[in-house]
Amino acid sequence: MEEDAGVIVVGGGVIGCAIAYHLARRGVPVTVVERRELAGEASGAAAGMLAPLAEAHAPGPFLDLCLASLSLFPSLAAELEAVTGIGIGYERTGILRVALSAEDEDALRERYRWQKGTGLPLEWLGGDMARELEPALSPRVRCAVLSPDEGQVDPQRLTMALAGAARAHGAHLLLSTPVAGILRRGRRILGVRLPSGLLRGGHVVVAAGPWTGRLLRGLGLYLATPPRRGQMLAYHARPVRHIVWGPDGYLVPKAGGVTYAGATVESVGFRRRTTARGLRRLAQMARGLVPALGHAEVASAWAGLRPGSPDGLPIIGPVPGWEGLTVATGHFRNGILLAPITGRLVAQRICGEGTDLPLGPFSPARFLD
Ligand code: FAD
Ligand code: GLY
Repeated sequence: MEEDAGVIVVGGGVIGCAIAYHLARRGVPVTVVERRELAGEASGAAAGMLAPLAEAHAPGPFLDLCLASLSLFPSLAAELEAVTGIGIGYERTGILRVALSAEDEDALRERYRWQKGTGLPLEWLGGDMARELEPALSPRVRCAVLSPDEGQVDPQRLTMALAGAARAHGAHLLLSTPVAGILRRGRRILGVRLPSGLLRGGHVVVAAGPWTGRLLRGLGLYLATPPRRGQMLAYHARPVRHIVWGPDGYLVPKAGGVTYAGATVESVGFRRRTTARGLRRLAQMARGLVPALGHAEVASAWAGLRPGSPDGLPIIGPVPGWEGLTVATGHFRNGILLAPITGRLVAQRICGEGTDLPLGPFSPARFLD
């Protein structure tokens, strides 16, 4: 066998890179193995929103995880820029969640009730007040909730900066290197199989997005990590300053005078391509929120495969009954938001430190007997 690679992280998406960063800055030897390029899958396709209140549907451990991760971004952004020179585009853009129908308004009001207890500042706005803030909003907007502390990053730059900082702290990155299988003796992990031979390491973290389930199958472990396709459009126009979150999709104003309109959520296997139908739906959603986008030039369109899980929650933590095997995937619509806390929790667990939050609710044990 080759020389010991330390902790081997399979996957150079935002989750694998965040884990490598947190391990490396603790002085743990770590090697990231990525079959293609960094951020080449969902992590490069994302909108980059940091939006705990948009996607957590109730108080509980998932919301706590999202809020804890949001709170890490200001110091992380500064730290990554100091170490790598890469700005991750962290902005408190603010999110305006809007209602277009009486039914949407009821749902928004219900969420506003419990969300006021989360500690994030929120303001209820009537339709006219929302249009005072964002004059391009449709006259159909009945009311809105303004959440000024939620925001965004550039997801590609975040992934690159995490990888760069991990490398600066001593991590090795092996790109264009597919992991063909995980090696074990009984239930003890020994390393991974690469095209060039074996890579030895006593701990493997599988952060391979929706491909995680396939890799684990080689060990006789059946964990569903289904891909959920998301299509996205970008316009050469920036008619809003805030992120606008509607009942059927969202608009994200980006640097360079561009606005993203996203996103579909589809179960179509590993087909990562856009469709005429998907893009038509996005264009309709965008016009419905901001009519001026009906006349804006489309800059580009793309799709990515979000890593799903059977209950829609992330799968983070050691695989019970195995020595040296950890999983970190299933972040579905929130992997960019959740990368900092996931990296921190996995590193804390591997280093035998107490974790900031309990990992129990996210343990792979809930799917593996
Ligand atoms: P991935 O990015 O898929 O990375 C996994 C990596 O593993 C890949 O690079 C892959 O090549 C590699 N890999 C797989 N198999 C192997 C192997 N055998 N050997 C070596 N490497 C392997 N989240 C947010 O928080 N905010 C958003 O606004 C947001 N918007 C989104 C919009 C869209 C359209 C999409 C598609 C997603 C969005 N997400 C968002 C979700 C977010 O992008 C994902 O949750 C996150 O990127 C998942 O990261 P990951 O590292 O787990 O997976
Ligand atoms: N979080 C936005 C998306 O997944 O589309």
